[in-house]
Amino acid sequence: MAAVATVTAYDLAVTAPAARRTRSAPPPRRINGVPVYEQEFWTSKQRQANPLHEVSYRGCFKPQLPAYFIDRLSKPGDFIYDPFSGRGTTAVEAALMGRNVIANDINPLSAILTLPRLEAPLIANIDVRLRAIKVSAKQKNDIDLSMFYHPDTERELLNLRAYLAERRDSGKEDDADRWIRMVATNRLTGHSPGFFSAYTLPPNQAVSPESQIRINEKTGKDPEYRDVRALILRKSMQLQSDINAAARWRLQQAAAKAMFLEGPAGETADIPDGSVQLTVTSPPFLNVVQYAKDNWLRCWFNSLDAEEIGAGITMATSVNEWSAVMLQVLSELHRITRPKGWVAFEVGEVQRGSVNLDEAVVPLGLEAGFRCEAILINTQKFTKTSNIWGIGNNERGTNSNRIVILQKPA
Ligand SMILES: C[S@@+](CC[C@H](N)C(=O)[O-])C[C@H]1O[C@@H](n2cnc3c(N)ncnc32)[C@H](O)[C@@H]1O
Repeated sequence: MAAVATVTAYDLAVTAPAARRTRSAPPPRRINGVPVYEQEFWTSKQRQANPLHEVSYRGCFKPQLPAYFIDRLSKPGDFIYDPFSGRGTTAVEAALMGRNVIANDINPLSAILTLPRLEAPLIANIDVRLRAIKVSAKQKNDIDLSMFYHPDTERELLNLRAYLAERRDSGKEDDADRWIRMVATNRLTGHSPGFFSAYTLPPNQAVSPESQIRINEKTGKDPEYRDVRALILRKSMQLQSDINAAARWRLQQAAAKAMFLEGPAGETADIPDGSVQLTVTSPPFLNVVQYAKDNWLRCWFNSLDAEEIGAGITMATSVNEWSAVMLQVLSELHRITRPKGWVAFEVGEVQRGSVNLDEAVVPLGLEAGFRCEAILINTQKFTKTSNIWGIGNNERGTNSNRIVILQKPA
């Protein structure tokens, strides 16, 4: 690997295994003068992702994406940032790779899903805590969730929700509580008996009660009983199945110094000037994903107001509107990035493939004060997820990752 200080965007492109085979290829095409490198820079097989990432979230990217840039553009101890952190893919990967972490997302669910995985309490401690939580008391629900849960599962969930709220509100919440909250939030709905709910799809968003009633009618099944504590323990073991003592130590080191913010990505005054070596991020692509609506059940479990959160989420209806928000974000990234530090800004195609957002990002990056070094387009082979959804490669907007590489001048 090239030394961080001297790495160039060209190095970035040619250190990819596929590129090594094509060094003699013709010079790359250019968009607005910026070279575009297009190939399969990373594959799922090339570097198996740690199971600790396996927390679903709408619009998340694969851990291989941040890993690629963290490996090449930073060194251990550097601060890695994601202003649109989502489930925390960049943060968790950075921590696993011995880097420090700053994460921001306007949706508080983001920190709920990320911080506990940096703290990574021992399975034995999670087990002891789970056993101590009483889940059988009668509880009255304020909303009808009978289409999602068996009555006994719902009672266990309501007790767990009340316990977690009490611990948080009384200031007694600890790493074991936060871990349990994270896993429970992740297990609320899904398509297998590993989730608390009746069969539902897709796994990373809650459909409306009306849609769930229709799914139940179609499958001809009422929700079956699920043992909430047993499923949390099982998922905890799976998430930590590749966390050895060294990895836990790295994660916990990062947790001790980590900064989690919950505000607009363009307004992050708490992050000091020139403190970040590398940002790896993916903003909302216009209004393609309904983050607030899709997360309504997760918000309910965590006593969060989905509508209030939704009001702050960027849901631009035009590229111009989107660009105005992104210019503010990129200007803020310029302030917090170290001289010679980097930003890898991942976007996609929108409006049925007629608009490539990377082309919109290039002038915004320049206006914010960065040099625009390259656009990397990671073209992906057929994936299992797209297969499930009947989507062939490149038929929909997000089958390729389009990453604009920006560097802050010295
Ligand atoms: C594409 S997702 C990021 C997913 C992330 N890369 C991951 O792997 O999970 C975009 C995220 O941006 C957040 N978001 C939307 N508008 C925002 C804003 N104005 N400021 C900060 N976060 C915002 C959403 O809540 C969502 O989590």
